Amino acid sequence: KSIGTGYASGKIILMGEHSVVYGEPAIAFPFAGTGIQATIKVNKLESWIESSFFHGPLSAAPNTMRNVTVLLWYLVKHFKIPEPFYLKIESSIPAERGMGSSAAVAVAITRAVFDWMEEPATQENVLHFVNQAEAVAHGNPSGIDATTISGTEPILYQKGIGFQPFQLNMDAFLVVADTGVKGQTRKAVKDIAKLMELRPYETNQQMRTLGQLTNQAQQAVLQNKPRVLGDCMNQAQGLLRLLGASNRNLDHLIETALEHHALGAKLTGGGRGGCMIALAENETSGRQLQKTLLDAGARDTWIEGLGVYAHV
Ligand code: PMV
Repeated sequence: KSIGTGYASGKIILMGEHSVVYGEPAIAFPFAGTGIQATIKVNKLESWIESSFFHGPLSAAPNTMRNVTVLLWYLVKHFKIPEPFYLKIESSIPAERGMGSSAAVAVAITRAVFDWMEEPATQENVLHFVNQAEAVAHGNPSGIDATTISGTEPILYQKGIGFQPFQLNMDAFLVVADTGVKGQTRKAVKDIAKLMELRPYETNQQMRTLGQLTNQAQQAVLQNKPRVLGDCMNQAQGLLRLLGASNRNLDHLIETALEHHALGAKLTGGGRGGCMIALAENETSGRQLQKTLLDAGARDTWIEGLGVYAHV
């Protein structure tokens, strides 16, 4: 019998990845198309984790699961949770694809523990644990993943300042396509930090331009101007490419989308693999684009309406 359950969806960054690390704004939303379920049960032997990436005793969890083990350590300490327990993680979010699977695991586990402890899992309470654990496990995350995933609405996020809920209310559809290649967020963030040291003036300028494009994109969404948003996405992709965040697989899907009537296309998340997004004028052209991208080698695709809660 389960003693606690928690759910979290994935996330999509519409605009502002990488520049968000340097204090520029970014737009992101919880992505209803994918999710993670965490279930905790009582265990009589030793604390145990069951997931697609690892199953075995908590004490033997690999370093790649540090985000989970660090988080559990904080939660066990805070709630004086009785061990041993059994934690099952079931996910439909592809890992390392820029969809925030790591933050989603953390949010789902935290919600499951709050459910078990019969404490209210408010966004503030959940973020308190998730942010601490993510900082230890990941070095220097901007916090956009955890903030988006622990909420329910699209947000405009700025590091150190916080977030503003933001209504996506646009007559357009967003197609998400997975290159099937693991993204390399950590490596990309590190290499961009090197660029920042090597060519501070130029790189700072590029970050500022990405920030301006995010602001223009926000206005475009508020004014329901899909073509302007598409143009902002294309310009952002050009800069992300210059910064070295794209790769061959992403470029290929992005070019394919643009050749097939997408209003704009770019990578989403950390890049160097992972997912791309393309803006479609309506649902029919979006579904056509999904087919075209699958034919062009995408492993998986999703579609999301950008009207208020118009999840497909
Ligand atoms: O690849 P993801 O889903 O973890 O997204 C990373 C977003 C970055 O802006 C590249 C990094 C960050 O910490 O904000």
